Amino acid sequence: MEFHRNKTHLSGVEVEGISTFSRWLSAAIPPETKSKTSRTGSAMNISVHYRIIQSHDFKINDQGVAMILFLPKLFDELRCVQLNQIALSYSAKQALNFEGNDPHYGNSFGLARIPEYEKVLLALTPLIKQKTGWDNIIPENSYTRIYFNGSDLKKHKDRPGLDITLSVCTFSDINKPWPLCVEDENGKVHVIEICPGDGALILGTKYTHWRDQLVIDESQKVIQSFYHWKFA
Ligand SMILES: [Fe+2]
Repeated sequence: MEFHRNKTHLSGVEVEGISTFSRWLSAAIPPETKSKTSRTGSAMNISVHYRIIQSHDFKINDQGVAMILFLPKLFDELRCVQLNQIALSYSAKQALNFEGNDPHYGNSFGLARIPEYEKVLLALTPLIKQKTGWDNIIPENSYTRIYFNGSDLKKHKDRPGLDITLSVCTFSDINKPWPLCVEDENGKVHVIEICPGDGALILGTKYTHWRDQLVIDESQKVIQSFYHWKFA
């Protein structure tokens, strides 16, 4: 096994893949949603903060296949604003499920298979096949979650069928890191800081993963979406 901290060998593919995905996703977002958003999100009073990503963690198996993959700036700012608007609209009509009664979670709200996110799942599939080298993956589902003060993600592995998990942050106003921690089969812990627009892909059924409890102001939040594939 080999662990890489250098992304230069993937940089050419990165640019092409994101460009292709952005065009696909743009087509997938309904026109009425486009017209209500702006690049700054000011219409919804949403700010999306970006900063330079300094760390790039890759874990490559013996065949050169990515087992843990950090995808910086996978979604551009407009995509984040569009998806945030959809998540917040579900929240406003109390259509997200409270997860605090589940021992794995804290003060978070989420929902599976929101139609717009399902379109993103389908749009992402060719890119994920390209990035991982796995042609035999099938879209399983998407999940959208808003985290508030006291949110938690206890150490766990995902259930069978959620073989590949892509976690994408689309909003954070907490002004501090809230990394995803992933323990690989050798016991090495990979700490992946996911800022708005970034994605992290892991083998969720194979690798234990978690986040520390989120301690923030009551007004602050993080919006994250998850995309799952299973092996055919
Ligand atoms: Fe998980």
